[in-house]
Amino acid sequence: MLPNRKLKLIDAYNRQLNYLRISITDRCNLRCVYCVPHDLIPRLPHDEILRYEEILRIARVGVDLGISKVRVTGGEPLVRKGVYEFLAHLTQINGLADVALTTNGIFLKENIEKIKSAGIRRINISLDTLDRKKYAQTTGVDKFQQVWEGIELARNSGFYPIKINVVALRGINADELTNFAKLSISYPFHIRFIEYMPIGKSRMTFEPPLLIPEIKERISSIGKLAHVKKGRYDGPAERFKFEGAQGEIGFIGALSHHFCDACNRLRLTASGQLRPCLLSDHQLDLKLPLRNGCSDKELADILLAAVRTKPSNHNLAIKDPVGVHCQMSSIGG
Ligand code: 5AD
Ligand code: SF4
Repeated sequence: MLPNRKLKLIDAYNRQLNYLRISITDRCNLRCVYCVPHDLIPRLPHDEILRYEEILRIARVGVDLGISKVRVTGGEPLVRKGVYEFLAHLTQINGLADVALTTNGIFLKENIEKIKSAGIRRINISLDTLDRKKYAQTTGVDKFQQVWEGIELARNSGFYPIKINVVALRGINADELTNFAKLSISYPFHIRFIEYMPIGKSRMTFEPPLLIPEIKERISSIGKLAHVKKGRYDGPAERFKFEGAQGEIGFIGALSHHFCDACNRLRLTASGQLRPCLLSDHQLDLKLPLRNGCSDKELADILLAAVRTKPSNHNLAIKDPVGVHCQMSSIGG
């Protein structure tokens, strides 16, 4: 335990960073059009990926410094061997109030009990279409039904909230946004519309970008959206609800609405790099110090240094993307 360091993760702009997103693998069992480029990106060799014990150690040091929420992401986190035991260790870290998981849902149905036994209650599922054929075309696998059954099972097994992440992609799902929005009425799901961010290489461009104001306009035919107050561990989503709906609608607009002032996150990549900002290639290495036998205090100092270098905001302007070269699958979204 590091004495008296709690709440030290405050950056130069007075943002308190209490949320760590951990990518445990850069591998994925899908090939989404906007994430996987034509020329396959080489996967990191196994020994380049942090071992679970290394990740847990970083998480513990983070919690000592004031991290209270962790999200496990990928690639696809559920493809990594030993993930359920890892999650169980993670949820047992004292002082960690919230551990959530982001998955593409392919392995959800068959592993729901393991996820639950590991102590996870909050899951985000990435699902960009409700159409089986389109799902197969955009992800490379014909498994829409399997994902949907996983989502239903998660709901029946008491997971709450279940958030469905929908990346808004012109030419792919613009015509489905109202169908997604309607799901929030009959199911207790939180449907979150995410603006596509031009990060790394992708197989397609989606021009002009489908931004939140247009998404709001497209779903406005369903009814009036009322604001929902933000919760303690909320990220950048603006929350709304249709009258009488069981679930909610969220909008995450990195392009149209800079939410950097309220950013509370740090990211740990699968290869052990700490990234203070998703939209900047700047990162600090934790793997080498870890493998050279550094102390917890030295690890904590690297976290503190990362916090000091967190930029005030990003310059991913709509017309002039700054170009982040790292792939989203290795940062974890
Ligand atoms: N822009 C916006 N969202 C993205 N995601 C992956 N790539 C992008 C991108 N370029 C989403 C995934 C997942 C979340 C972690 O990030 O669909 O829901
Ligand atoms: Fe925070 Fe960077 Fe995201 Fe802006 S772009 S909200 S500073 S992580």
